[in-house]
Amino acid sequence: MQSIPHTSPKRVLEVGCGTGAFTKEILAKLQDGDVFYIVELSSDFSKSVETKLLQPFREKNPKIEVVLHNASIEETDLEGTFDAIICGLPFNNFPLELVEQLFTVMFGLLKQKGELAYFEYLWMLQLRRIFGFSRIRLETKQRARDNNTRFAQHSGSQETVWRNLPSCRVVRLRQC
Ligand SMILES: C[S@@+](CC[C@H](N)C(=O)[O-])C[C@H]1O[C@@H](n2cnc3c(N)ncnc32)[C@H](O)[C@@H]1O
Repeated sequence: MQSIPHTSPKRVLEVGCGTGAFTKEILAKLQDGDVFYIVELSSDFSKSVETKLLQPFREKNPKIEVVLHNASIEETDLEGTFDAIICGLPFNNFPLELVEQLFTVMFGLLKQKGELAYFEYLWMLQLRRIFGFSRIRLETKQRARDNNTRFAQHSGSQETVWRNLPSCRVVRLRQC
């Protein structure tokens, strides 16, 4: 959650909150005047996060705006831009064209110097490159190339989280 500024007021967006593991950590970083939007495709996850996390949070923190959209990020018309975007989307499971589209949408929502953080499981691409059929190996090479290009263009940084099972890498990209 390093991408979230310590200053206020700030605007934070979470894309694909799932069960809300990161949502809890983001909520803990908010202060009066902040705005937190969440966009989650699954209506089951949306309902559960809304009931278990957001409703109780709003009752205790009436000066923090927290809004959950049950929709896909590509189709959600969000107003304004954000200081930080925390993204839980499993990019390696999506077709390359969709990954490109998702990053375009998210960078369109990010303020200048704002950070977009996402997570990927370690060794996923390497395993596919070694054990995949030739079409998958080719696609995986292209995916790795795209990742590296984005990383370079957006002053990327990364950190490995070994305590997570399976271990993952946090990638941070900056709006230049
Ligand atoms: C890997 S899970 C998120 C994991 C989450 N950090 C957790 O702790 O549960 C990915 C989530 O992204 C959601 N999702 C997938 N595609 C999406 C899209 N285009 N827009 C918004 N949410 C999406 C899925 O419904 C799923 O809940």
